[in-house]
Amino acid sequence: MTETLDISITRNQNSRLAQTDFDNLPFGHTFSDHMFIADYADGEWKNFQIVPYGDIMMSPAISALHYGQSFFEGLKAYKHVDGKVSVFRPYKNAERFNKSAERLCMPTLPEDIFTHSIAALVDVDSDWIPTKAGHTLYIRPFMFATDPYLGVTPSKTYKYMVITGPVGPYFTKPVKVKIETEFSRATEGGFGYAKAAGNYGGAMLPLKMAIQQGYDQLIWTDSRDHAYVEELGAANVMFMINGKLITPSTRDTILKGVTRDTVLTLARDWGYEIEERRVSVAEVLEAAKNGTLDDAFGAGTAATIAPIGQIEHEGHLYTLSEPSQREFSNKVLKTLNDIRYGVVEDTYGWNYMV
Ligand code: PLP
Ligand code: COI
Repeated sequence: MTETLDISITRNQNSRLAQTDFDNLPFGHTFSDHMFIADYADGEWKNFQIVPYGDIMMSPAISALHYGQSFFEGLKAYKHVDGKVSVFRPYKNAERFNKSAERLCMPTLPEDIFTHSIAALVDVDSDWIPTKAGHTLYIRPFMFATDPYLGVTPSKTYKYMVITGPVGPYFTKPVKVKIETEFSRATEGGFGYAKAAGNYGGAMLPLKMAIQQGYDQLIWTDSRDHAYVEELGAANVMFMINGKLITPSTRDTILKGVTRDTVLTLARDWGYEIEERRVSVAEVLEAAKNGTLDDAFGAGTAATIAPIGQIEHEGHLYTLSEPSQREFSNKVLKTLNDIRYGVVEDTYGWNYMV
């Protein structure tokens, strides 16, 4: 892969691989030996490097720290049963990376630089990809502004970086969620559709409060009336009601998930009826009450397919069907894993081989 992008590689002489406990990998704590770094200046991307993972030195005045010119992506690499390595649908993330960049007044990155930088980094650290079921190498590309200048204006210089780390599942049990009726994650005309760092910072207080009340996650609702379902934490949300797969249509308050698109593609090909539209809180709760809510889950890269066990809304707690008995979400998770770990043929061309 490196031949398509001129990358200087400095190998880590102090690998942490041997000291890493691959049987205990909570999400986001462990990082692989190397990272990718590139600079943007004078209108172009340059200095493509893979270097040992480590701290970086920055001016304290960078606008990323003060005004939030910072965003990221999230995708995963898989080690197949035959030892080959693939990254799942990186061009979809490359496309969304540039949507985020445009919304935050930051430079776009050619899609091939995005995918080749990731492939080269994953290749260098391929021994870090876990092989245990449900375990993967999480890939975190990100971009941030680096001008040492406090004016509220777009920076002229930026860094694009990629770090990776082996991870286990983000959620280890069905989630108990609260439907949020006070705070909002995103607003109309805002930037909820971008993976802007600020979207996640703003979600921390409402999530902390929900966790203190005994929930695992939030279902975000529209900021105007809190009457329509939007997302589940940092994942898209889907419901199977009366045999129909229903999910909020994407709009400026909703991140257009790669997993969402993947699940909808599979469901369509399996002959399920699909509705992408505004989904009201009322209809979800009514279905939970009258027994027509056959399935409910979050869909995301970190979350994978995360079954919802219980839903709370304004003091009422609804317990949904036993997650292990649900037909659709179990089938979709198994199929996704079979494709990603190379157990079945990837007829969709989703695996980008490294
Ligand atoms: N929604 C939000 C807010 C997210 O952070 C994510 C995770 O990336 C998703 C949805 C799911 O997107 P994807 O499936 O591309 O990971
Ligand atoms: C991802 O699934 O990649 C996400 O962005 C979720 C992350 C914020 C933990």
